[in-house]
Amino acid sequence: MSGFSRRGQMSERKQFRAIKGTRDILPPDSALWNWFEHTAREVFESYNFGEIRLPAFEQAELFYRSIGGETDVVSKEMYYFQDKAIPELEVLREQIRYATILPSVPQTVDHFVRELRKFRQLLDAGFAAGEVPKHDLNVGTSQNLESEANQLQELQSVESSARNNDMISFVASQIKRHVGILHLGEPLALRPEATASVCRAYIEHNMQAFPGNQKLYYIGPMFRRERPQKGRYRQFYQIGAEVLGQSDAPAIDAEVLEMLLVFFNRVGLTRTTLYVNSIGDKNCRPQYVELLRNELRRVKDRLKEDSQRRIETNPLRVLDSKIPEEQPIIETLPRISDYLCDECRAHFAKLKEELNLRRIDYKENWRLVRGLDYYTRTTFEVTAEGLGSQNAVCGGGRYDGLVELLGGAPTKGIGFAIGTDRSILSIEESGNAPKLGGLAVYIAWMGQASYPTAVSIARKLRSAGLSVELPPEEMKFKKSLGLADKLGARYALIIGEDEVASRTFTLKRLADGDQKKLAEGELLEYLESERRR
Ligand code: HAM
Repeated sequence: MSGFSRRGQMSERKQFRAIKGTRDILPPDSALWNWFEHTAREVFESYNFGEIRLPAFEQAELFYRSIGGETDVVSKEMYYFQDKAIPELEVLREQIRYATILPSVPQTVDHFVRELRKFRQLLDAGFAAGEVPKHDLNVGTSQNLESEANQLQELQSVESSARNNDMISFVASQIKRHVGILHLGEPLALRPEATASVCRAYIEHNMQAFPGNQKLYYIGPMFRRERPQKGRYRQFYQIGAEVLGQSDAPAIDAEVLEMLLVFFNRVGLTRTTLYVNSIGDKNCRPQYVELLRNELRRVKDRLKEDSQRRIETNPLRVLDSKIPEEQPIIETLPRISDYLCDECRAHFAKLKEELNLRRIDYKENWRLVRGLDYYTRTTFEVTAEGLGSQNAVCGGGRYDGLVELLGGAPTKGIGFAIGTDRSILSIEESGNAPKLGGLAVYIAWMGQASYPTAVSIARKLRSAGLSVELPPEEMKFKKSLGLADKLGARYALIIGEDEVASRTFTLKRLADGDQKKLAEGELLEYLESERRR
């Protein structure tokens, strides 16, 4: 790794810390996370969703196209980087950029042209293999390099003159500049969300040819460079679900919402509110956006800078503003519900009917426009108590047309993503977090002669699914029991030399000190009956 010397590392004591906005989830919290994710799997699979595992990074353009280049998520928060180039190509590029060319010494020019031709060959191979991005800048520059190489060769074949030498120097400097501006590595981004990736995968695997709607869920980290605060991280976790297919029946929207709320209920995330809205489609939204823009221009002076900018870039996002002074102004703006086309209005009405049929409580919120560009018609969000300003635990909506925008066949889509970090915070704050697992048995063994029995019993109990701690070294009895207590073990199993001789062991319940003498054969049966209680 260039730039980091081992010597430097050793001479300077350095304490490494997790990057700002990222964090470690330690036990026992991680058990809560596993339980939360496991419950999601159970619920989602009961609705016939299957898991899709997606890469954590994609071509940056996928997110530009789907989420939108003007959105905060893409323009301000996305972790964007250029992939490493093919090493040979990178080395050649540097050799060309820093080559010494003496026009009066033909060998230096010949060598330069040869290097350039080799570079262009590798570049073409890189384009063909998809390892070098084939965008306009690269393709155009590559063509320029070809004609510049030819030009140099022609200049060389002519008799040497001062003018000719100047031309050679000029063309060579152009070549150096051109190789420098090529993007040899692919522009990539850490995924800020996963709906775009699901659509990419849907197209890539020709999933429209699979029977029925594709019902997919995913679990994993997402990355956004936001200002960290409670409930807001730069690496955060989502559990998402998407339905892709030919139908946009409102029953799909309602079933997705039902599944979401069944899950929230199952994990004790109950102090929540579901907000729903319809933001129209490509037939009715453009007119509404224009109307909104005109109204916003009238009140522009009373809005803050961000909203002023959004009047031109994305007026719908002004409705999302949380700035107190802007609230009374926003309340007077035209509402999309009054401007929906007949189809969108009917779709929204049917959705509400479907929600009522399922006895799902919701509130309509005409300002719920969401921060990603791909939504059409249904949008929704769930907020939870106890989280302060970052209180959205889930967001989602319909994105008919996104697959098409990414080069696939016309496809309807709807889905949501749950923020795991915030959901778990809310569950913990409400006191609804379940007591999970924990250490069942601590084996307090004493005397080397009892060690083999301790090892064998530990293995038996563990293979029956119990969590067992076996101290690796002999400890004094009191110290051993003290540690069992601190580790939160439910039982201490005492194995001394007498116990080994009699094959009966003392099982001590640490909560109340109750002790039982049990034969080896009874031990497991007893612990299992206790576990079931
Ligand atoms: P989103 O509203 O951007 O939607 O994110 C969904 C949820 O992820 C939020 O409600 C929040 O709980 C959580 N979240 C977002 N950013 C952060 C952060 N920086 N720290 C902690 N939690 C965060 C989407 O991502 C869409 N892909 C949802 C979707 C799926 N729409 C259709 N299908």
